[in-house]
Amino acid sequence: MTLVQTVVKGVERARLLDAVAVPLAGLVHRAARPRRVRNLLSGTPLGHPAHPPLTDVPIGAWTTAAILDVLGAANSMFPLRKDHTAPLAELFVLLGIAAALPAAATGLNDWSDTQGEPAPRRVGVVHAAANTTALGLYTASFVARRRGKPAQGRLLGFAGYGALLVGSFLGGHLAFTDAVNVNQNAFEERPLDWTPVLDQAELPEGALRRVLAGATAVLLHRHEGAVHALSATCSHMGGPLTAGRVEDGCVICPWHGSTFELTDGHVVRGPATAPQPVYETRVREGRIEVRARDSGRGPALG
Ligand code: FES
Repeated sequence: MTLVQTVVKGVERARLLDAVAVPLAGLVHRAARPRRVRNLLSGTPLGHPAHPPLTDVPIGAWTTAAILDVLGAANSMFPLRKDHTAPLAELFVLLGIAAALPAAATGLNDWSDTQGEPAPRRVGVVHAAANTTALGLYTASFVARRRGKPAQGRLLGFAGYGALLVGSFLGGHLAFTDAVNVNQNAFEERPLDWTPVLDQAELPEGALRRVLAGATAVLLHRHEGAVHALSATCSHMGGPLTAGRVEDGCVICPWHGSTFELTDGHVVRGPATAPQPVYETRVREGRIEVRARDSGRGPALG
């Protein structure tokens, strides 16, 4: 195991962090409870989590500022040379500060759903702390620049950039190693051919049933005689939709409340952003059969 992996493992095991994480997540959940707020912070209208693209702006702005600061520092060694980099660097520092706020709000929203998983929850706290440190240092850097102290401003900026790199690394770990907030159905294999899954007598009106179509778990629901079928695994973080409840033609995930329309799988309420894969259904010789409705997502089995 490399040193970096050892450090990350240490963070994942640090129970001490739960003392901050648990109450903070509760606060975030309460603040993001209204459906519109939750959808906006999650990226539900985009069909894609909002946090990753929003982080690109402060990272890009502060990277540009760091490059300009290196050039500015090199220029300052030649007192007769005029330095044009300082005003631009200041502008990019300010842009990064402004863009960090929506990035932080969406990140907190995403992180607050990791409460059932201690390792990502703890890594997320340190990720947020590193990014908050970066924001504080860049704010101090901006103030120093405005007060005519460019060298101090650069030093604070470089320190902020170091904190930003730590935060970015841990953010990547959450997404690519812990798979936080990635579409849980992206690799689901769905049958293209009609596949019998249940005797129709076993699905009374209003019932939710979990069945297998090949190796894939499918949720069945009968409403006014019509049979609806969706992937049974919540696209958000893999919650069991068959343990949820049905309301107004939607199924609500028991884990974080994502709400999917039963007829077409689209997301009515986040935090989910990817729709649930949908199946066509029919009844043949008393058996309910399903086959994948082409959703353009994930592989389907021919
Ligand atoms: S797993 Fe999070 S809402 Fe379903």
